[in-house]
Amino acid sequence: MKELSQRVSQAPKSQIRELFSLAAGRSDVISLGIGQPDFKTPEPIIKAITKALEDGITMYAPTRGNSELLELIAKKIREQNKIDVGVENVIVSNGGSQAITFAFASLFNQGDELILCSPNFISYFYCGAFFGLKVVESKRNDDFSPNLDDIKSKITNKTKAILINSPNNPTGYAFTRKEIEEVVDMVIENDLYLISDEVYENYLYDGTVHISPGSLNGMQERTITLNAMSKLFSATGIRLGYVAAPAHIIDLMEKYQQYTIAGTNHAAQFGFIEALKMDKGFFKPILKEFNSRRLLCYKRLSEIGFDVVKPKGAFYIMPGISKFGSDSMKFSKKVMQEKAVAIVPGAIFGSYAADRLRMSYATSMNNLETAMDRIEDFVKSL
Ligand SMILES: Cc1ncc(COP(=O)(O)O)c(C=O)c1O
Repeated sequence: MKELSQRVSQAPKSQIRELFSLAAGRSDVISLGIGQPDFKTPEPIIKAITKALEDGITMYAPTRGNSELLELIAKKIREQNKIDVGVENVIVSNGGSQAITFAFASLFNQGDELILCSPNFISYFYCGAFFGLKVVESKRNDDFSPNLDDIKSKITNKTKAILINSPNNPTGYAFTRKEIEEVVDMVIENDLYLISDEVYENYLYDGTVHISPGSLNGMQERTITLNAMSKLFSATGIRLGYVAAPAHIIDLMEKYQQYTIAGTNHAAQFGFIEALKMDKGFFKPILKEFNSRRLLCYKRLSEIGFDVVKPKGAFYIMPGISKFGSDSMKFSKKVMQEKAVAIVPGAIFGSYAADRLRMSYATSMNNLETAMDRIEDFVKSL
């Protein structure tokens, strides 16, 4: 038989899945692995989707998205992200994941280079490979901040774009305004594009404010801003997100959508419409709870002896395990087998995190306390 697609074959099967298969049939497992919030999807969203289905909204949606939804997304981006967009600058996607695909499909040609800080979200690496581009990793500083000189040194004549994900999965780092401005300067000076993945924009602590690079001078024509309803509305399974970009780039995304997925779930878009009309005050107590979880994990992991950076945003913490051996895959497997705690090995997030773990604190304080007790016992037994 002839060889199958190298681009797809070469991507590893999800090691997270492999790890989680160790948990099969066990009821005592506490998961710090999942990248999804644990609160209930707000009622107005569920009601609107149910009503849409009852009203017979089961046909194809407009490729770019429902017109009211596009208006509301554009309004949200203008008001919250301070980017001057209209409906012609927006497309609805199947979650943040397809928003990434849209960005890659519309920007890159074979051999183009994309620079990102590493460790970073796993999909960028393999989605990049699917589109034939070279993902160039710039190692983050020890506190997970970007190494701006290193990023600059990695720009070549093949570089097409820089990608920022702030607040970040897996490190919890959030760029400062100055760091964003410096990246923006590099983008403009070198005639690049900037992809800004803002799916965690609402998960920021200690008064840190989210800044959308697309709002800065000269950046509107160069920035692909992507986001999703997944994390803010605890709606990862509803699979809706969006991209904001210059209209001619959105046109390419629409074309790509037409010939691949042919649109997003129509009824679900009515849920997104209601979500965007909601008073964002609903999220205040949730963020407070996530902050308590963050502080608990930071304190306990530091006390246990991990090398920990206090996260500034998102809901992940990425402790270093060098004191306890440096193989994160082995550590994760053993802590799952012996203590029934699911933790993602850092090794899957690029070339610079083999000696780290990624823990999600999107679970209850009780679960986190118990998980930390178990991890402490495990570490003592080493
Ligand atoms: C940084 C980042 N971008 C995008 C996504 C994908 O979001 P979605 O679940 O909406 O596809 C995730 C999901 O975990 C993420 O962490």
